Amino acid sequence: MCYFRGTNYKILPDIIQLLPDNIANQIAAGEVIQRPASAVKELLENAVDAGADEIKLIVNDAGKALVQVIDNGKGMSETDARMAFERHATSKIRNIDDLFHIKTMGFRGEALASIAAVAQVELKTKRAEDETGVYIEIENSMVKLQEPVAATTGSSIAMKNLFFNVPARRNFLKSNAAELRHIVDEFTRVAMAFPEIFFSLSSNGQEVFHLEKGTLKQRIVQILGNSYNAKLVSVQEHTDYLNIFGFVGKPETAKKTRGDQYFFVNNRFIKSAYLNHAVMNAFDEMIAKDSFPMYALFIDLNPAHLDINVHPTKQEIKFDDEKIVYAFVQSAVKHALAQFSITPTLDFELDASIQQLEAVSKPLTEERRSSTASSSLYQTFSQKNQAHFIEHKSELKHWKEMYEPLNAGQPQTPDLKPQTTIHEQRTGSGQPDHDAGLMQVHNAYIVVQNDQGYLLIHQQNAHERILYERFLYAIEGKAIATQQSLFPVTIELATADAVLLNELIADLQLLGYQLEPFGNNTFVIQGTPADTVQGNEKVAIEKMLEQYKHFSNDIKFSKREKIIRSLALQQAIKAGTSLTQKEMHALTEELFACKIPNSTPNGKPTYMTFRKDELDKMFGR
Ligand SMILES: Nc1ncnc2c1ncn2[C@@H]1O[C@H](COP(=O)(O)OP(=O)(O)OP(=O)(O)O)[C@@H](O)[C@H]1O
Ligand SMILES: [Mg+2]
Repeated sequence: MCYFRGTNYKILPDIIQLLPDNIANQIAAGEVIQRPASAVKELLENAVDAGADEIKLIVNDAGKALVQVIDNGKGMSETDARMAFERHATSKIRNIDDLFHIKTMGFRGEALASIAAVAQVELKTKRAEDETGVYIEIENSMVKLQEPVAATTGSSIAMKNLFFNVPARRNFLKSNAAELRHIVDEFTRVAMAFPEIFFSLSSNGQEVFHLEKGTLKQRIVQILGNSYNAKLVSVQEHTDYLNIFGFVGKPETAKKTRGDQYFFVNNRFIKSAYLNHAVMNAFDEMIAKDSFPMYALFIDLNPAHLDINVHPTKQEIKFDDEKIVYAFVQSAVKHALAQFSITPTLDFELDASIQQLEAVSKPLTEERRSSTASSSLYQTFSQKNQAHFIEHKSELKHWKEMYEPLNAGQPQTPDLKPQTTIHEQRTGSGQPDHDAGLMQVHNAYIVVQNDQGYLLIHQQNAHERILYERFLYAIEGKAIATQQSLFPVTIELATADAVLLNELIADLQLLGYQLEPFGNNTFVIQGTPADTVQGNEKVAIEKMLEQYKHFSNDIKFSKREKIIRSLALQQAIKAGTSLTQKEMHALTEELFACKIPNSTPNGKPTYMTFRKDELDKMFGR
């Protein structure tokens, strides 16, 4: 670089410097410690890892002033107590392979270093074999005081005045009520996973939770309340590949809010929309579509099948074969609900066929892995989305049953033709209406009625699903037709957006956009996908970019997935748009030709069913 500066280069100083440790730690802490509740999670997990069977959590001022965890675990030696606050200092793994055999909650050696970087910390700890314990005070990653102390075996770690040295972050904390709710969430997740450990939580001197040791069922009732007593159905399936155990709430306990839902994989709480979908599918038809069943499900499997190191807070994990896990969860829950005669009409095909998989019925050897992988059943599971597909078939059949009687004596419903699009239909002439059962309400919903009840389809959500699957199909190799724009449109973008659009251009072309760079951050749009309304190409691209950026922090989506999701969201026909009979018909047909017709890509329902017999019952008939 200096080369360009001619004779001046000698006097320009170098400008890159290493950050001091405490600043580097503060920056890194941002990943791990975002709010008091993050510290609660880390400290509780450390106490669990230390083998404690009594863990007390004390918070003041919703954790902003104090988060303290007292445990009766194995404690630390004087040297370890100092080491514990160093970054990457851990007793839990030695090499990267250990990550795939892990039995502990912690493994990064980052939590205490992060906490010490952004708060004042007091540690008191003693091992059983030591006479005296050690007391350490740390602030800004620096030890302020260390001295021997009389103590019982175990550790007490107090984190005071979180973000005292990073005021900007302190200002980002929410109200005490909101922060306390996060704390209770984290506390609950750890306490739920370890019913054999006593836990308590005190807030501003008042004991909020006092959870005696007990069974999982007792712990669930202690935490979620007595209303679940006698309303829990046990889920239990053991196979060589994985075990699932836990409880689901009976359908009548389903709530309108998604609160009481817990997945644990090897005792670690995880968030998984995918597995949640499996449970929801198992409950299908038993609960209203807008309600959420309670579940606390524990999946145990060989850590070799997992990657837990994909997210800084470890709440997202990767299974090496998530479709199999999906199918297991779904069938285990179905099985449990059926055993308790909550529904007599479930089919067990899925369950029986899973049991026959060699990977499940016998210990896994390399040889077996390859023979399993070539079996046709395994292949149906492992093809993209096929686990859903099994469920979907029966749903489609069900829908057809509801729908077809409607047309009896009238022209047959045309074959499902995914390529017939709503917008094509829009431009068609107003043909006479022979789908008398279709009605639009509030310009937002389509009612599909027949003798047995009706379906209520949310037109925007439904179209989002349809577009998503169509784009997915297109991007996997079958390009979508383009409609030429009458007048090419130019679009000029800010530099960052232009760079982004350049990156996406090849995929957008597969999706039917005729789009070329034109220099100086300008692009020309010559054509758009066949199924889009013309005339707003420019806005459509801008909005797609906006939406894409919105997804850009989401590490679980690939670039293509983000494009497809952005386009589907952006182009879906909006609520408030009046539809003709033909359009409604096309939309309904296409929705049920989808692989997963019942929700949008991000899980919003696309339709709900209302059965006439249930309606009658509600009216006392
Ligand atoms: N309550 C405790 N009792 C005994 N030892 C502890 C306790 N808390 C922490 N330690 C020790 O301090 C080390 C560092 O803890 P820290 O939480 O920073 O890292 P980790 O638990 O190993 O990994 P992670 O960053 O993933 O939580 C631990 O590996 C453990 O040896
Ligand atoms: Mg830890």
